[in-house]
Amino acid sequence: MPRKPLQILILLGSSREDGNSTRLAYAFADGASSRRHAVRSIRVPALQIAPCDGCNECWPAPARPCVLHDDMESVYPLVRAADVLVFATPLHFYTWSVPLKNLIDRLYCLSPDRKRNLKGKHTALLAVAADERLAAFAGLKATSRLVAEYMGWKPLGEVLVTNIAAAGDIARAGKALARAYAMGAKLG
Ligand SMILES: Cc1cc2nc3c(=O)[nH]c(=O)nc-3n(C[C@H](O)[C@H](O)[C@H](O)COP(=O)(O)O)c2cc1C
Repeated sequence: MPRKPLQILILLGSSREDGNSTRLAYAFADGASSRRHAVRSIRVPALQIAPCDGCNECWPAPARPCVLHDDMESVYPLVRAADVLVFATPLHFYTWSVPLKNLIDRLYCLSPDRKRNLKGKHTALLAVAADERLAAFAGLKATSRLVAEYMGWKPLGEVLVTNIAAAGDIARAGKALARAYAMGAKLG
């Protein structure tokens, strides 16, 4: 019997049009598309998303996760429908880019103790850094794993690429691009 394609949502955290982390994410997308999965990517910095203000008024109506009116209204259905959430980010001061972190904060209304949550999804982390030390990713890696654990997500893995600074540098990181592709293709 033909298997159902997975819905994959890639959240792109770079403000660069054609950023290194974006290209890494596209390698993942190519791998997933090769297995006929449905891939969608969102350039998060292009969206107008207000920060979560912790009002705790989540789910004011059955179809409304959040009281705020902004671009998250179109992101929520995509996040909820996704089987796989992929976070692609440049390392910014040892953590996610601000737009990506801001979006993650707005998933507060879908945290595990809520009636409607995101438990059971798969997740992956793709990140690039100018630093030559893999240890520069320690904070991001720990945060990402704790978020996944808290949200009830199953991590597929991480591709963390060092020595990537100027736009386009990722092109010479063939092995990392191949790892991202393989991670996407491994979805079966
Ligand atoms: C605001 C800012 C903060 C950054 N912080 C770090 C950092 O903490 N560690 C690091 O190795 N690189 C840092 N970088 C460099 C980027 O991670 C690097 O240029 C990366 O390739 C950008 O990826 P992108 O093209 O996907 O945006 C920073 C860059 C910017 C603009």
